[in-house]
Amino acid sequence: MSETASITLNGSSYELPVITGTENEKAVDISKLRDQSGYITLDPGFKNTGATKSAITFLDGEEGILRYRGYPIEQLAEKSTFLEVAYLVIYGELPSQEALLKFRADINKQTMIHEDMKNFFAGFPSKSHPMGQLSCLVGALSAFYPESLNPNATVEEDNESIINLLAKMPTIVSWIQKKSLGHPVVYPKNNANYVENFLNMIFGEVTGESTFDPVVIDAMHKLLILHVDHEQNCSTSTVRIVGSSNANLYASVSAGINALWGPLHGGANQAVIEMLEAIKADGGDADKYLAKAKDKNDPFRLMGFGHRVYKNFDPRAKIIKKACDDILEKLGVNDPVLDIAKRLEEAALNDQYFVDRKLYPNVDFYSGIIYRALGFNSEMFTVLFALGRLPGWIAQWKEMRANKEPIGRPRQVYVGATERDYTPLSER
Ligand code: ACO
Repeated sequence: MSETASITLNGSSYELPVITGTENEKAVDISKLRDQSGYITLDPGFKNTGATKSAITFLDGEEGILRYRGYPIEQLAEKSTFLEVAYLVIYGELPSQEALLKFRADINKQTMIHEDMKNFFAGFPSKSHPMGQLSCLVGALSAFYPESLNPNATVEEDNESIINLLAKMPTIVSWIQKKSLGHPVVYPKNNANYVENFLNMIFGEVTGESTFDPVVIDAMHKLLILHVDHEQNCSTSTVRIVGSSNANLYASVSAGINALWGPLHGGANQAVIEMLEAIKADGGDADKYLAKAKDKNDPFRLMGFGHRVYKNFDPRAKIIKKACDDILEKLGVNDPVLDIAKRLEEAALNDQYFVDRKLYPNVDFYSGIIYRALGFNSEMFTVLFALGRLPGWIAQWKEMRANKEPIGRPRQVYVGATERDYTPLSER
């Protein structure tokens, strides 16, 4: 007999189905509760609300487990490449060699961007934040690919938008980087690998050939892989909810980019490095900043610490911390903020406030130190997060469409004024 839950409301009892996931996660299905009882459930911040059934990413916050399509993040970060992982999350299985070559070739054919896009790109002030530019440019792709607007597009037609966006995102990111430096853009190379091509457009020069240290290439793969997906977080939920209105892929992802930008989400990677720099400038006293973070009258939070779901080590943070040591050593970079970060982490992990609240370093705590060692400025960090997260957003958007999920539309408990009569302006 299938499991059910019962709830008694105002003297009447209701049986609710219980859904069990493949990892034995349990959920009470309340989708019919209002029809049956007139009650809704209230859960600000969706702290305990499952919005969908998804087969993409499994995350156990208590145990610190993260898997894409069943594969542990540790194995993927160690052994795979970004493009292979992108294929995995989007299409559900690791690609054969042939499928991966075709995927790469299909992407490489679409890396160029319509030259007209440069016209309005040129209008951004050179100091405007890269995330604002990114969301704008990704949204604008819908204007250049109007066929993507068809809400009844076939799977094959949707796939063209998917390939197109995967192909163009690195080119767009590189435009933003080059503009910030006042340098001419470097065009994509159609025979290069995804990550090498990206690095070449970012750090290469139009005037010559560039080669990259394998350490840099590996680090880039690892960082991008670790950011690929993280189930129903703020930006991914945004992509799904925007997409649920049948908005096109570019519009949905553009919305996700804006959600990611906030410092409580992906924007934390920029905020962490700025925090570490501020601590350094203030004499490097980690304890002083821990005290600030604990003070409820001080808005300061320890950026890169805490997570809605992880109540244990974020497995991505563990990998990044180790990679950070390795990469800085191999590149011969000595960044004093790494020591501050380590001192801060150690102090927080031994502090009762952080222990009681199960606050651990998250993915953003060490990533910025690596990005900086690779040569990115801090305003680009969240853009790099977005580049890594793109396959996840795409996979979630695709899954939502394949499942024919209904439009996302939460309810509310109204707490405003009850009915009252309009008073003419002259009487107010
Ligand atoms: N520093 C100090 N205190 C913290 C921190 C922090 N970084 N994070 C949480 N807390 C405290 C809260 O003040 C609260 O304390 P209280 O119970 O005494 O009121 C308690 O821990 C629970 O915090 P909430 O904000 O309720 O937890 P929530 O799940 O809503 O927030 C979040 C999670 C937003 C990530 C939070 O931990 C935070 O602001 N962290 C810093 C920003 C950050 O690093 N964001 C990146 C997250 S990873 C990502 O999005 C990719």
